[in-house]
Amino acid sequence: MTEHDFILKSYNSNIEKGSVKWSSPSNIALVKYWGKKEHQIPENPSISFTLSDCKTITEVTFTKKEGNDFSFDIYFEGDKNEAFKPKIQTFFERIEKYMPFLRAYHFKIETSNTFPHSSGIASSASGMSAIALCLMSIERSFSEVEVTDKAFTQKASFLARLGSGSACRSIEGELVVWGKNESIADSSDLYGVKFEGEVHSNFKNYQDTILLVDKGEKQVSSTVGHNLMYGHPFAKERFAQAHDNLAKLKAVLASGDLKQFVEIVESEALTLHAMMMTSMPYFILMKPNTLEIINKIWAYRAKTNSKVCFTLDAGANVHVLYPDYEKENVLEFIKNELVSYCQNGHYICDQIGLGANQI
Ligand code: PMV
Repeated sequence: MTEHDFILKSYNSNIEKGSVKWSSPSNIALVKYWGKKEHQIPENPSISFTLSDCKTITEVTFTKKEGNDFSFDIYFEGDKNEAFKPKIQTFFERIEKYMPFLRAYHFKIETSNTFPHSSGIASSASGMSAIALCLMSIERSFSEVEVTDKAFTQKASFLARLGSGSACRSIEGELVVWGKNESIADSSDLYGVKFEGEVHSNFKNYQDTILLVDKGEKQVSSTVGHNLMYGHPFAKERFAQAHDNLAKLKAVLASGDLKQFVEIVESEALTLHAMMMTSMPYFILMKPNTLEIINKIWAYRAKTNSKVCFTLDAGANVHVLYPDYEKENVLEFIKNELVSYCQNGHYICDQIGLGANQI
């Protein structure tokens, strides 16, 4: 597949109006994407768990209009929102080549999240994938040829990537790979693909409890962070390491070796933040409580036989990952020892999920 294959060629332009609605989840990367080329092409492959409960629900109502400008309104949790407009404008500009009908309609975009807005949880993955899916449903209704589910999913992921890179991993579940890698057949830089390799039962219903350490706005956006990988002294080694880690993780997912899983996942999280700390200008997104939590997790692992581990996004919050069979014990540990490091004691319990749904 090339970019060219995603251009909608013929469609019925007589449809006056309609409405579509999707719910799309967030995802948490195990091997991290950090660094990109033009058009949101990743410098290295990544793999993520799709989440189940942290979701964005988006309804798009479209109405035929005159004129040739993009026209859309956004409502966030019921209120008209101007702040999101530039992001959607940029998104429309990036995808119009592939969806030539965009300028012919006015779009009312109504969106809400199942998780609190100011939680420091990135809503770009769930938000951008939800809107990409809505636009794909509209495209499907206009299409004069049958759009297979595979083609639908692939293009939805392709479009979501152009909105926010990691959003392309939110369409399907339970594990999604994005970025060309030798060990994963069909992997692509253009869109995410469902991980079709063997997955051991240890990973069934894998748990992710998100500890909200800092709910504030990040000091450095991920766009700026990705760009700092240009000319970064360790970039080449880091990109090569991500390829290796993905191949290793593939074997670990099949064998169910949780010790190795913990090693790869925690190393990936710390490497991501090490890249930030060794960028120029350098920056730190972890907070003192992020480190407190990491140390507590290590101490808990040392004294029990637990395989609980952590991963981090581009922020201070900690994703605590653990097998379903450890749920009771780890939740007890989280409540007793970790919640005090969360802002206002807030945390979110989630688990690995199956992907987006049309509503
Ligand atoms: O999708 P973006 O541009 O917000 O980048 C997200 C990057 C990380 O969350 C840090 C890692 C990842 O692979 O999701």
